[in-house]
Amino acid sequence: MIVVRTIADLRAELRDRRTGRIGFVPTMGALHEGHASLLRAARTDGDTVVMSIFVNPTQFDEQSDLAGYPRTEDADLAVAAAEGVDIVFAPDAAEIYPDGFATTVSVTGRIAETLEGAERGRGHFDGVATVVTKLLLASQPDAAYFGAKDAQQVAVLRRTVADLNLPVQLVVCPTSRDADGLARSSRNTRLSEEERARAVAIPRALQTVADAAASGIRSSDALRGRALDVLAEALIPLEYIAFVDPDTFEPLPLVDRPTLVAIAARVGATRLIDNTVLTPE
Ligand code: PAJ
Repeated sequence: MIVVRTIADLRAELRDRRTGRIGFVPTMGALHEGHASLLRAARTDGDTVVMSIFVNPTQFDEQSDLAGYPRTEDADLAVAAAEGVDIVFAPDAAEIYPDGFATTVSVTGRIAETLEGAERGRGHFDGVATVVTKLLLASQPDAAYFGAKDAQQVAVLRRTVADLNLPVQLVVCPTSRDADGLARSSRNTRLSEEERARAVAIPRALQTVADAAASGIRSSDALRGRALDVLAEALIPLEYIAFVDPDTFEPLPLVDRPTLVAIAARVGATRLIDNTVLTPE
């Protein structure tokens, strides 16, 4: 496995590998089993697997959150090596945002401005779209791998790739979960034992909604009520539960087509997100 720090070195390493299929997995490091599942998908599909580690400053709305983001490069490189990554691209901020940087990829409309876009600040998804565009242009992979856990990020990046005609296939991998259903996240380590036990109410609420929808309940408001009951019982204050079109994020009052159910909730001081897609017959 090779570690490169500059775009020039990344391109030089990839030059002779372009006859084969290149898979790219962008990350911010602090790798866990969720990231590893993306690496395995890229390894299965491709001849060359590239992974980036870059804690992208432009997608953080709070500087304290950026400063406190876990940086565990040695451990991340060990995970990458174990998963068969060929090239790790781990630039510093000046490589990605040189002096005078002034170009932003800005996605407008519901997909970027509601839910996570509203909560994390207007610049969040611009930061994501900008850095992912830059990483894709630096690596020019055949396919790039993202987790379904960040459903809105996927919707924003689908829009970016389509609108800018970026020649890459986006592959969305299923949310990797702990045995009890909690979606894996670097934030889970911040939960106390008691909070970790309560957090399982989030996937349970989604499962309750899925079961109720499967039993024939079509009203989003009625389904929302079921989720609220489960979360209230676990004393988890809900930030939002949205029933939306997975591509446009238009609210859907009736589950009569594929519907993304997205939840954000706070368990203690830790903000967690999760989602599921309902697909009525
Ligand atoms: P990061 O949070 O490090 O996540 C990197 C990728 O791992 C994302 O595509 C995310 O959806 C995926 N992922 C995280 N937890 C997962 C889980 N439990 N199951 C499956 N996939 C999971 O997302 C980012 O970084 C950044 O926004 C980035 C795309 C790298 C741009 O800076």
